[in-house]
Amino acid sequence: MSDRAIEVENLSKQYGQVMAVDRIRFEVAGGALVGLLGPNGAGKSTTMRMLTTFLPATSGIARVCGFDVMTDSMEVRSRLGYLPESVPLYPEMRIEEYLVYRARLKGIPRRKRHARIEYCLERCRIREVRRRLISTLSKGYRQRVGLADAMLADPAVLILDEPTTGLDPIQIRETLSTIKELAGSHTVLLSTHILSEVEAICDRVIIINRGTLRWDGKLASLAEQAPKLVMEVRGPAFEIQSFIEHEPNVAKVKLVSSDKDISLFEIETVNRADLRETLAKRIFEKGWSLRRLDHRRQTLEDLYMSVVLRGDAAGPA
Ligand SMILES: Nc1ncnc2c1ncn2[C@@H]1O[C@H](COP(=O)(O)OP(=O)(O)OP(=O)(O)O)[C@@H](O)[C@H]1O
Ligand SMILES: [Mg+2]
Repeated sequence: MSDRAIEVENLSKQYGQVMAVDRIRFEVAGGALVGLLGPNGAGKSTTMRMLTTFLPATSGIARVCGFDVMTDSMEVRSRLGYLPESVPLYPEMRIEEYLVYRARLKGIPRRKRHARIEYCLERCRIREVRRRLISTLSKGYRQRVGLADAMLADPAVLILDEPTTGLDPIQIRETLSTIKELAGSHTVLLSTHILSEVEAICDRVIIINRGTLRWDGKLASLAEQAPKLVMEVRGPAFEIQSFIEHEPNVAKVKLVSSDKDISLFEIETVNRADLRETLAKRIFEKGWSLRRLDHRRQTLEDLYMSVVLRGDAAGPA
């Protein structure tokens, strides 16, 4: 596969006064599986619509498999499968009939069409309802038809806007495993609000907020970060903080919260030193009550919260 399946440079979309997407830039290597995260209104769908040629950018460049979305839109469309946020389906058609129609439209050669449709019906678990009218389908089944459509032409790049929305828990698991299997031989960019989905299948995460790119990094980089010590103590908050700060091998002490006489601290240590026993002993000697002392690594949820709520640009973006 091409080394850079998706390239985005200073891409922007302005609606009146609103910068829905503001000079974002990222690249996705061929075969990667990347999660696009961000709160409602962050600009995820707008970015995807520009990448898939459905929406012209105000400025900037986007390329799919090396083809510019503005000047080579037909080349781009023939290389990608797109599951939009609200799946546009023809209610009067039956599922199979719709997929045959879409396969023709996508230029899938006649001799391959049947096998390809069977494969997608199977992968999206809609084989048994293939003769149902689309108008009679539940939300989750419509979503599955949308995914089958996106996969139909076996595109190099899949852009999936909240692919698991509306699915039941078993379908979510199966859809995620289908997407994971597609990665490697396909490049996948998916958006979601479910952080555990990203943790389960993505190699990398991009977080956008208010149209700007806030974090872009591999999930593995989170696991490599030094764990913090989390300590909960009953006693005078500021006195405890100052005492711990002066202990050997303590790099930083942050008072996270304090409620009545119970305080929660986050402690960073020098060279990842494990100070649990030492600190427990010292707290005990001072006559304070230790309620909790453990190691904690930053999770995707911590990262998301710090990037979105506090506006930290925490990553190697
Ligand atoms: N057609 C439009 N006209 C005006 N503003 C728009 C239009 N489409 C989107 N926007 C605005 O652009 C911003 C980004 O919207 P977008 O749909 O890309 O967000 P999103 O990250 O996909 O959010 P969600 O998680 O809710 O799907 C929002 O402020 C939205 O109101
Ligand atoms: Mg959206």
